[in-house]
Formats: sequence, structure tokens, C-alpha cells
Amino acid sequence: MVDPDLFRDVLARFVSGVVVVTTANPDGYHGMTVSSFCSVSLDPPLVLACINRETQGHDKLERAPAFAVNILARDQSFLADQFSGRAPLADPTFARVPHRVGALGTPLIEGCVGWIECRPWARYPGGDHTIVVGQVEHVALGEADDPLVYFDRAFTELAWG
Ligand SMILES: Cc1cc2nc3c(=O)[nH]c(=O)nc-3n(C[C@H](O)[C@H](O)[C@H](O)COP(=O)(O)O)c2cc1C
Repeated sequence: MVDPDLFRDVLARFVSGVVVVTTANPDGYHGMTVSSFCSVSLDPPLVLACINRETQGHDKLERAPAFAVNILARDQSFLADQFSGRAPLADPTFARVPHRVGALGTPLIEGCVGWIECRPWARYPGGDHTIVVGQVEHVALGEADDPLVYFDRAFTELAWG
């Protein structure tokens, strides 16, 4: 039996980047902060994210024809807070979130280090999460190249040099 607190403590020692997964549905835009993002395959190009079944994002992703992965820059931790319910949530039009609309209709948040636009490719059960695999249809690099980093339950940055 794995002690859940120890499990969380050990996972906190795994360094990751931070993304906001965005969707566009008839009831509006939605974004959700995610650190369980990773690449899966180059051919075909696939990525995945593990999404808690109890989040709104889970429902939005089940219904959306596409989703975007917005890779946050170092100075965007306020967005990670906003899209994880730690700060007031963005409204369904993203009126106060600078963004443009991507080729698949999903909002792409300005100022990110990169963007990945996907169509849903597969979903797999993953305990209390769903493993959502997306087929990548468009990618773009941001002008910013300094990513936000998540480690030890806190936001930090890469120490260059
Ligand atoms: C740094 C960070 C990383 C997170 N990573 C994930 C993740 O990988 N998967 C997930 O389901 N939730 C993750 N969360 C939690 C969701 O962002 C949070 O549950 C959010 O409130 C869901 O919002 P929603 O219910 O509006 O979709 C993360 C939160 C933070 C702050």
C-alpha cells in the first residue's frame, strides 16, 4: 500500500513545465492548468494530458472538437493560478485573457513559449483521471523562450548558465 502523502511528496520532486489546455464549446471558452502534459509520438504527432475526471475541463474536453496546449512562459504564473481555480476564473469569452483564435477554433493565449493545437485522438481510463491523447495539427513557437517551471508545489524558472 502506497502512502498517499508520501506519493504526493515524491511526485513533487518531479520537475515539469506548465500548460493551459484550452477548449472552445458552444457554451464558451475554457482553460485548465495542467502539468501532466507530455509528448507521445512523432509519427503520427501525438501528445497527452491526464485530466482529473471531476474537473470542468474533463467535461469540456469530452465535448470539444479540438483543444490547444498553451505552454506557459516564466512570467505567466498568474495564468496558471487563474486556470487552476486559485485566482478568479476567466469568463467564457476570455475577455481579460489576451488571446487569438487558432486554426481549430480554440483560444491561443498570447505570450506563451509555444502552442500545440490538437484533435482528440484517443481517451484511456487512468484511475481518477482520463488520459487524453491528441493528434497534433498545428504548432507554433512564441517569442518568449523562457518557460514556467513547476517543482516542489511551487512555480519557479530555469536557472540558465
Ligand atoms: C501547477 C498545476 C498543475 C496541475 N496539473 C493538473 C493536471 O495535470 N491534471 C489535472 O487534472 N489537474 C491539474 N491541476 C489542477 C487543475 O488545474 C484544477 O483542478 C482546476 O481547478 C480545474 O479547473 P476546472 O474544474 O475549471 O476545469 C493542476 C493545477 C496546478 C496549479
